Amino acid sequence: MTTRPTALVTGATAGIGAAFAKALAAGGYDLVLVARDRERLEKAATDLGATHSVLVADLATDDGCALVEQRLSDVDNPVDLLVNNAGIGLRGAFRSNGLEAELRQLDLNVRAVLRLTHAALGPMVERRRGAIVNVSSVAGFATTAPGSTYGATKSWVTAFSESVHLSVRLKGVRVMALCPGYVRTEFHERAGIDVGDRGGPMWLDADRLVATALADLRRGRTVSVPSVQYKAIVGLLRHAPRSLLNAVLTRSSRARD
Ligand SMILES: NC(=O)c1ccc[n+]([C@@H]2O[C@H](COP(=O)([O-])OP(=O)(O)OC[C@H]3O[C@@H](n4cnc5c(N)ncnc54)[C@H](OP(=O)(O)O)[C@@H]3O)[C@@H](O)[C@H]2O)c1
Repeated sequence: MTTRPTALVTGATAGIGAAFAKALAAGGYDLVLVARDRERLEKAATDLGATHSVLVADLATDDGCALVEQRLSDVDNPVDLLVNNAGIGLRGAFRSNGLEAELRQLDLNVRAVLRLTHAALGPMVERRRGAIVNVSSVAGFATTAPGSTYGATKSWVTAFSESVHLSVRLKGVRVMALCPGYVRTEFHERAGIDVGDRGGPMWLDADRLVATALADLRRGRTVSVPSVQYKAIVGLLRHAPRSLLNAVLTRSSRARD
């Protein structure tokens, strides 16, 4: 009897995480779905099929991280793929957001990603197999929104993923940063950011984004930037002179205090 692989997806009840859960279930994975809202998690697990379990955890807290770390460390039920997807943004700028909100964003977007990657890597390296997808953002390539610290958290996720990947790739484990542009999800609404009707070529579909991400993971990419329009933007953000970029971005975006 061949056993089915297991994937653990954080933030699996909405947006990009829900799209990962759907694609991975269709690809034959058993799933461990993680989020805070139990009712929504159980409905997602039921909709996807009987072999999926749920963990109710707030990953911005120590207890929430510890619960998921425990599951990732269970060598009798190994996790083959970890998708560190849960993340939030903040509407305001650093000075006006309040320290508590800033620390919560940092805890979820950075600290939880570090902790869960650390917990997953032990058993993966031991088995010499496994993969981790850390959901980052195009916003991590430059200061696209002056005053926002969201991009800084995502710069960290991308740099962290690349660095860890280089240290474990010869041990049979892959780590990939997924860097989406705008995706139609609940993300902006949760942050209280008004983005209008979310139409046009810059808005990506979560299912298509995830299909590209999983194809990039199979190809062994370290950084995945789905869609040609965002590949072009990332090329510009990476190679344009910083001083020019900062001048244009400060003028074109609402510079925020
Ligand atoms: N949408 C975009 O345009 C975009 C672009 C680039 C990158 N991203 C990144 O993509 C990732 C997913 O975003 P999304 O757009 O899919 O967001 P979303 O639609 O708002 O979904 C967020 C998911 O994360 C869960 N979550 C939120 N806070 C949590 C916490 N403290 N602990 C555990 N789970 C939590 C939510 O469920 P509960 O509320 O029940 O916990 C939900 O399942 C994020 O890392 C985001 O930064 C998004």
